[in-house]
Amino acid sequence: MSKTAATAGFMSMKGGGYYSKATIGAKHTIDRATHLILEAIERMDPADDGTPFTMSDMGCADGGTSVSMVGTVLKEVRRRVPSRPLQMVYTDLPRNDFSQVFQNIHGQTDIETYIDEIDDLYVFASATSFHKPIFPAGTLNLGFSATASHYISEKPGVISDHVHMVGASGAEREAYVEQGRLDWERMLLNRARDLAPGGRLALFNFGIDEEGRYLGSTGGADMFDTFSRLCADLRDQGVITAEEFVNTNFPQSYRTVEQFTAPFRDTANPVYQAGLRMEHVETRVVACPFAVDFKEHGDAARFAHEYIPTLRSWSEATFASGLSTARPVEERQAIIDRFYDSYEALVRGAPDGHAMDYVHCYLIIEKVAA
Ligand SMILES: C[S@@+](CC[C@H](N)C(=O)[O-])C[C@H]1O[C@@H](n2cnc3c(N)ncnc32)[C@H](O)[C@@H]1O
Repeated sequence: MSKTAATAGFMSMKGGGYYSKATIGAKHTIDRATHLILEAIERMDPADDGTPFTMSDMGCADGGTSVSMVGTVLKEVRRRVPSRPLQMVYTDLPRNDFSQVFQNIHGQTDIETYIDEIDDLYVFASATSFHKPIFPAGTLNLGFSATASHYISEKPGVISDHVHMVGASGAEREAYVEQGRLDWERMLLNRARDLAPGGRLALFNFGIDEEGRYLGSTGGADMFDTFSRLCADLRDQGVITAEEFVNTNFPQSYRTVEQFTAPFRDTANPVYQAGLRMEHVETRVVACPFAVDFKEHGDAARFAHEYIPTLRSWSEATFASGLSTARPVEERQAIIDRFYDSYEALVRGAPDGHAMDYVHCYLIIEKVAA
């Protein structure tokens, strides 16, 4: 595998509706911060001028985790501007399961949808990366994205002794931090271009909070260290090669609050110059619902069985991408199954400390009129 493999070539959440069913924590992250978006609309005070009002969910996966928030927000926009047609645009990478998005939003699954509750509403999808322009310049009114911008556009190199940049050190870690900075600024510059004057961005990003916490690091058994150790076990058992272990790296960069806000604090930064201003920033930890349930029911086997799918929903593509394509597909799948089975056995045997608590940095950004 190339050192600089482009993320778009292999990245996708597990499809077929698996993602939303397994990631109730991601839905909590969005739902519990809906008020930040409603407050932004209040400040935006959109004109009731009959022109289309466009909202997007960028990096939407199957659209299920944001559906309640999108319904609440679009109903509020409809109430404020009855004359404006509403366009809701779901975006992700080309390998995303867009069919599932449409099934979820058009009421063909058990997910509760807003589609029949809002009139003059048009739903679309786009497979253009958020690192590129997505909309005709100046036409996006409200851009939303959750739990997606930590995916960097390419791996800037390998991490030789870990699977994630949070466990990397020295130049290997620096390369991921720098790729994270470049992609963050690029994504913001493209949104500055997409946004209409007075438009808003609501970006709820995975990151590293003021106390150094990040996804899965709060319970005691660090999730990324566990991923790395179990992957190294497969290498030591001869199931995968040393090269496959080294090539297994998440194409992700977790940014600190300082790094997220830097482009808005430096008036010479191209992002600031392009008219983006930060209105709000905060960090929050959203508890892992499976670990919360475990405290109630105390059944370690049940916890392990329910917990591993949430990890698998977003991490499987990375572990699959590390395996040599010389292996038959069935062999790769068997290795991946063995990997997650070993994680489940670990949690079943010693459940304490395992928790995928979400650590997010919530940003509301305004595009000021030129
Ligand atoms: C962990 S999921 C989050 C999904 C959903 N937003 C949520 O909060 O539950 C991350 C999503 O971001 C998408 N993604 C990653 N890089 C992207 C890019 N450059 N452009 C658009 N989507 C991207 C992935 O394909 C995936 O569907």
